[in-house]
Amino acid sequence: MRIIALFNQKGGVGKTTTTANLGAALADAGKRVVLIDLDPQANLTTHLGIDPDADSTLAANTYRVLTDGIPLVEVLQDVEGFEGRLKVAPAVSDLAAAEVELVSVVGRETLLRKMAAGVKADYVLMDCPPSLGLLSLNALVYATEVIVPLQAHFLALQGMEKLFDTVGMVRQALNPKLHISGILFCQYESAAKLTGEVTGEVETFLAQARGTSHPAAEAVVFRTHVRRNIKLAEAPSFGKSIFDYAPTSAGADDYGNLAAEVAEMGKGGHAKA
Ligand SMILES: Nc1ncnc2c1ncn2[C@@H]1O[C@H](COP(=O)(O)OP(=O)(O)OP(=O)(O)O)[C@@H](O)[C@H]1O
Ligand SMILES: [Mg+2]
Repeated sequence: MRIIALFNQKGGVGKTTTTANLGAALADAGKRVVLIDLDPQANLTTHLGIDPDADSTLAANTYRVLTDGIPLVEVLQDVEGFEGRLKVAPAVSDLAAAEVELVSVVGRETLLRKMAAGVKADYVLMDCPPSLGLLSLNALVYATEVIVPLQAHFLALQGMEKLFDTVGMVRQALNPKLHISGILFCQYESAAKLTGEVTGEVETFLAQARGTSHPAAEAVVFRTHVRRNIKLAEAPSFGKSIFDYAPTSAGADDYGNLAAEVAEMGKGGHAKA
């Protein structure tokens, strides 16, 4: 089972879009996929066509998993159209309070890992909030790997050091298996001059990290760049994945290719960049 946190404390980089559409693509390919919404914005939940304010969601969600000790398997909802292969643990806005409510709980960073013990799937994908707080820490403690969505624009690399430090700290203290497996460029515009510069900087950085104890020592830059595509921005308001909403769009192509690349990586077949 691969347990992947989509993590970048920077906002609006493509974490939720990637969680939803990579999850849908893997499920379409026949894999059993569990998605976990750890963001109080509940964007992932909405994107999958589930109302965060529906009674069933209010009764069973990731907030209750963390604060009431409900096993994660008990809050999973089927995403429509996937015949049980794609499930989500939804979020509600109350989740924002968990950071404060859990502040004095011993073992608060390991709650999700404990509560998710019964989860069985080929892939677990976690949508993190844009912060380095307790919710993201819980994702990193449960994860076996991290994928970092990144936008290739000015200041894109600002904050990366903090991100690497956080992953390194969790690995050292609580989760020795954790590593950054890939950097994914989202909202990619190949025509922009800056794009080439930023991708170059990331490649150089990763080349320097190889063979060291850096948490990104084994990370690749995904060959798939998710291009900026308006259909990807429209799909969430219809509660659909890109494959349902616009199956012939560039967005569907890109997330389909990404899923193949992620699956290949699991077999050890990914060519290092
Ligand atoms: N490739 C793309 N092309 C066009 N729009 C995109 C693309 N990827 C994401 N978007 C849009 O950009 C916005 C931010 O994306 P998304 O919500 O996935 O980022 P995020 O990292 O989850 O944000 P947050 O940090 O707020 O949770 C959304 O409106 C989304 O629909
Ligand atoms: Mg998000």
